[in-house]
Amino acid sequence: MKLLHLDSSILGNASASRQLSASVVDAWKNGRADIQISYRDLASDALGHFSAASLVAGGTPAELRDAAQAHEMALAEKTLEEFLAADAIVIGAPMYNFSIPSQLKAWIDRISVAGKTFAYDENGPKGLAGGKKVIIASTAGGLHAGQASGQAHEDYLILVLRFLGITDIQVVRAEGLAYGEEPKANALRAAQEQIETLFTAV
Ligand SMILES: Cc1cc2nc3c(=O)[nH]c(=O)nc-3n(C[C@H](O)[C@H](O)[C@H](O)COP(=O)(O)O)c2cc1C
Repeated sequence: MKLLHLDSSILGNASASRQLSASVVDAWKNGRADIQISYRDLASDALGHFSAASLVAGGTPAELRDAAQAHEMALAEKTLEEFLAADAIVIGAPMYNFSIPSQLKAWIDRISVAGKTFAYDENGPKGLAGGKKVIIASTAGGLHAGQASGQAHEDYLILVLRFLGITDIQVVRAEGLAYGEEPKANALRAAQEQIETLFTAV
């Protein structure tokens, strides 16, 4: 089984979502000899934004690309292949300014590729990247789950993954982390318990 582990927090060792995503991966690999893990740190090794230059590189035949275009396409292809190859994905997803980090959005822009991960026909959109299990480690300073203020964060991430055909999506959540030391500790403990429940239920 191939597991892709993504982190996007800019807070390094102080990050709550990194702590939770690592716990999810540990729980997933516990007792499994057949698991292959790839790790991508979207904060320290940020993907460039999908841009006009990306479009031009994609539209240029491989033998005519300059060095920057060849680099751009190699990055795009590797990111897409890694996503397509994964049977399971763990995504560390903090809330920054009511949304996901822009580094995580840059990854989404690389994996949302017409004809590869979604398509449209006369019946509307169709996801082409189904069959994967995803666990989102979601963190926030405030309380947003189920609220309008959370829509551009967790709800958006779930929306995009579903659009790509992924239906098996779980969220491990620690929110209200800015409410003080005790609420933070309680939220992190509850999220750890949620991870244990998820993996004992499997
Ligand atoms: C740049 C930045 C923006 C943030 N914006 C929000 C926000 O809009 N709403 C919120 O509830 N918390 C916000 N927070 C708090 C984070 O969601 C909280 O610290 C959470 O633990 C971040 O996850 P992390 O520790 O994995 O980075 C923000 C934090 C940072 C660093």
